[in-house]
Amino acid sequence: MNKLIFCAMLAVALPLYSEARNAEYAGLAAKVDSLLEVMTLEEKIGQMVLLTSDWDVTGPTMRDNYVEDIRAGRCGNIFNAHTTAYVRELQRVAVEETRLGIPIMFGYDVIHGHRTIFPISLGESCSWDLEAIEKSARVAAEESAASGLNWTFAPCVDISVEPRWGRVSEGAGEDPYLGSRIAEARVRGFQGDDLSDSLTILACVKHFTGYGAPMAGRDYNTVDMSERWFREFYLPPYKAAVDAGAMSVMTSFNELDGVPATANRHLLQDILRNEWGFKGFVVTDYTSINEMVHHGYAVDDKDAACKAVNAGVDMDLQGVLYLEYMKELVESGKVSEKTIDEAVRRILMVKGKLGLFDDPYRYCDPETEKRIVYSEANLEAARDVARKSLVLLKNDGTLPIMKGEKVAVIGELADSERDLLGSWKAAGDWDFMSSILDEIRKYNGAENVLYAEGCKKYGDDRSGFAEALKIAKKADKVVMVIGEDWNWSGEAASRTSIGIPGVQSELLAEIAATGKPVAVVLLNGRPLDLSEESETASAILEAWYPGTMGGAAVTDVLFGEYNPSGKLTMTFPRTIGQVPIFYYNKNTGRPVYLPDEKYKSKYIDCSNDPLYPFGFGLSYTDFEYSDISLSSDKMDDDGCIEASVTVTNIGKMPGEEVVQLYIRDLVGSVTRPVKMLRGFEKVALRPGESRKIVFKVTPDMLAFYRQDMTYGTEPGDFHLFIGSSSADVKQASFTLL
Ligand code: NOJ
Repeated sequence: MNKLIFCAMLAVALPLYSEARNAEYAGLAAKVDSLLEVMTLEEKIGQMVLLTSDWDVTGPTMRDNYVEDIRAGRCGNIFNAHTTAYVRELQRVAVEETRLGIPIMFGYDVIHGHRTIFPISLGESCSWDLEAIEKSARVAAEESAASGLNWTFAPCVDISVEPRWGRVSEGAGEDPYLGSRIAEARVRGFQGDDLSDSLTILACVKHFTGYGAPMAGRDYNTVDMSERWFREFYLPPYKAAVDAGAMSVMTSFNELDGVPATANRHLLQDILRNEWGFKGFVVTDYTSINEMVHHGYAVDDKDAACKAVNAGVDMDLQGVLYLEYMKELVESGKVSEKTIDEAVRRILMVKGKLGLFDDPYRYCDPETEKRIVYSEANLEAARDVARKSLVLLKNDGTLPIMKGEKVAVIGELADSERDLLGSWKAAGDWDFMSSILDEIRKYNGAENVLYAEGCKKYGDDRSGFAEALKIAKKADKVVMVIGEDWNWSGEAASRTSIGIPGVQSELLAEIAATGKPVAVVLLNGRPLDLSEESETASAILEAWYPGTMGGAAVTDVLFGEYNPSGKLTMTFPRTIGQVPIFYYNKNTGRPVYLPDEKYKSKYIDCSNDPLYPFGFGLSYTDFEYSDISLSSDKMDDDGCIEASVTVTNIGKMPGEEVVQLYIRDLVGSVTRPVKMLRGFEKVALRPGESRKIVFKVTPDMLAFYRQDMTYGTEPGDFHLFIGSSSADVKQASFTLL
């Protein structure tokens, strides 16, 4: 079919899309219906298929010739293809060479940037800066939309308390409240307030759901937990993202309560569509329909496809099972044509909202691509977010380093550009990037910087130790960049130990023994066991994988050009044996009040406390908190009280502090956590400056799933905490009447 016929058909079936959009898509549904009327079953099924191009590999390849699949109307959606030129070519095939010319939706894993890469999502969450996080998603949207894409497989909102699981790097940490606020910010950043804007893209909330709680931290493993725990601690960020307007949701690989998420009617119908009113479409994760055979939930591929579609899965990502079996399933009556129509309607509605029916090439302007990708403003934004993501875990005064001090830089990671990007670097390049070493040289003067690799990221080669020790002795201070290879976190990167790999820590101990102050910079994608390093290092800066501008951002913090303000969003254990460890644990019937008591809920070989708690992070200045003042110590069920503290910068540098509000419900019809985050505010204070921070406390902040599983409050006594981390707080009390 040529372009003329395509235009004519759309003119009949889908006229006046812009008007429909302006009238809040009022007319779009009717027009999609008219398109559905002229579509064959095969064409409908084609819209339910998403295939990868061969431009990037994020899983097994199943089809040899996706271009031919597009041409034949067998594939209505593509991922892993980008650049305006390539997307335009694939779009041309869909629009000009298929009978109905329905445009393709182009997806990609734009997780923390498209070309300009921002810090990994876990790192970014440590900024507690919702504006900065939204900005990061906005830049990612603009760069990817300018490169032909209109759909990202993000945000990943999986809550996790499992540092063994490599994908904690992709989420926002352990807390459902913070995770929800970040989920909203990311959806807003990607989608803006108009999906059809050629610089916004469709968000895809993933992985629905429970994926962050795989048993033993092994990726793709079984998930099982009570409905109460699931709803309170795991579900909120998905709901927040849906409420923020995300129009697509990706199912997760795992099963939940014995039913794989990809055929889980309870999740997809009861919760997502009926309770939450989700109107977008559901896509699978990579071949997760096929995997239901291995799960032992489907007898064969056909059965799996049948179960998935009947549970409410609209689109098959790379599994090719809808393509192979859906026609037969409909013809045999196992799947109704109504089910297919509903799925296709949801998908076409989103294509309409993206503006693709108005102009299928709206994301394919090479001039915009040139203007936006790697623009100076984007690089600056990446540097800003990267600096805010860094968390200072320890400092005996070694940091900041004075400009001009002689610095020995040690570690393979110090000289690596690729590692700075972390996993899911999308289309980010690293050949033009600066490493941490380059940036330190640039800032401090090459003559003041010595470098030795010392050792590799992993392996047991100690042959470089001598050289590293030699330069350390010549320097005023040492900066050691150690951690994990970028590929050690992300998908399929679970670990059984969470220490620093290889002999990096051994070298650190030898360098520290020289007596030189050693600042450790960590590159990693999960909480690590730093029990040894926290003793040997003089300072520790958690830099995560900070992105394209990571070298500059780390240098800014090392030399005090930026005062670190990040706070951990996942607890760092003392040892892997404490995992799972998180701040919102329950008190138990045998809490530990005195260290030497037996028969208490504790270990005999380690304290219960983490090494670095949730919400913790140091600054180069100090903040003092006043006591909490409450507007009243009683709250009506429909009332509100105000809790305030005054925070003062009592140090010598301007700095930012994340003031955190936690609440504990002392007695309930079910037991409640010892603390739950319920608010936070990030404030910038000059030396000597004070600010009164006021939190409004309302009954919805006290609600939970009661014993009968209804959601609401119960009268009684509460503790309210405000402080600089989950473990460093002031306390007050009030009663809910
Ligand atoms: C599998 C991953 O689990 C998912 O997060 C990603 O979006 C898809 N592959 C597509 O690459």
